[in-house]
Amino acid sequence: MIKIAILGYGIVGSGVAEVIRMNQDALKKQTKTGIDIKKILDLREFPEDPFADRLTKNADEIMDDPEISVVVETIGGAKIAFDLTKRALAAGKHVVTSNKELVATHGPELMDLAVSNQVSYLFEASVGGGIPIIRPLHKCLAANVILEISGILNGTTNYILTRMEHAGIDFETALKEAQAHGYAEQNPTADVAGIDACRKIAILGSIATGEYIDSRQIHTEGITDVTTADMAYARALHAKVKLLGSFKRQDGKQYNLIVAPMLVPSNQPLTAADDVFNAIQVTGNALGTAMFYGRGAGKLPTASAVVADVIECAMHLGKQPHMALWEDHGNQNILAHDEAAVSALIRLSPAIDQNSVEKLFSNVGIEWLEPVMPEEIACIVGQNSDQALTEGQLSQRLAQLGESVISRMRIYTKS
Ligand code: HSE
Repeated sequence: MIKIAILGYGIVGSGVAEVIRMNQDALKKQTKTGIDIKKILDLREFPEDPFADRLTKNADEIMDDPEISVVVETIGGAKIAFDLTKRALAAGKHVVTSNKELVATHGPELMDLAVSNQVSYLFEASVGGGIPIIRPLHKCLAANVILEISGILNGTTNYILTRMEHAGIDFETALKEAQAHGYAEQNPTADVAGIDACRKIAILGSIATGEYIDSRQIHTEGITDVTTADMAYARALHAKVKLLGSFKRQDGKQYNLIVAPMLVPSNQPLTAADDVFNAIQVTGNALGTAMFYGRGAGKLPTASAVVADVIECAMHLGKQPHMALWEDHGNQNILAHDEAAVSALIRLSPAIDQNSVEKLFSNVGIEWLEPVMPEEIACIVGQNSDQALTEGQLSQRLAQLGESVISRMRIYTKS
């Protein structure tokens, strides 16, 4: 039996134990010997739990136990989880995690530590929950230059946007509904501010390029300012508002990354993902485009990906590990946000002089829309022109229009 330990017995950690218990026979076939949870680290008590006898509050019992070869880290955050992951790797144990914050923040250091100790650091569950995406991107698509990855990477915000679209409710009401269903945390900032999606696209971009992309370098906007009026424009334009995380390879070696709510044309397959579902579209220069779709969060879907990584480690016990490695190039290949091309819907006060707006955008394309909301006018800029509009130019020109600007929302274009 392969002996493992689980650090953190919350939703995902207890899901890992449940999947191992539920699928024992299948796991025995896969690993030849089976998986035994020897210890579970958590400061809380779980007296009624089937694994209550494995619980410990002392990490030394795991780190100092030579029988435990794989450690599952499901604590979350980048402090205690970081220290314990380093200890486990240094002790020669494989580590498997769902912790995107830790991977996005300290990935290269942890990978180096894993390599120097001849063990693996695997994180399939860190992006897309149960959807296979890390290993497919790293291994199955290894023959490609990855040109684009665009995805709905956060289930909570996708649920909120879907409810705003379908029920006509505002952001605050949809957020409360998401919290009542247990989809959104009581402190939902990491989700609604786009931070969670940002960490995930940073991880995917790093896998796609083999270079560490620091999530803190990615321009990130959340969904807190999305309104029911934006939903009305989306409908009129045959589009949906989705929080997208996007990586695009520009001119060969520049990486253009962004997280923001965008108008996604309804004929794009990504818009099929509603409610808590995630969808990730990957374009490779040999593959063309493929889409990965499914449950991006939740106890058992996430545990499904964690346990698959445990099996992967079990198959490599005593062998050279095969895992993602990221070189750190100091983010020099990340395109400055101001230089990225953009097209956008702009909503304006009707008092504005339309000629002055046309003058500002005529070189990059401007198209006025039929009225959608009372007491405002709207146009699309940056489309249908050979000359690109950059984010920097858009900001400058909107600043020139001053308080007449009600809002702007980017329009997703597939590269
Ligand atoms: N809060 C995340 C989401 C959990 O809503 O997608 C999964 O990473």
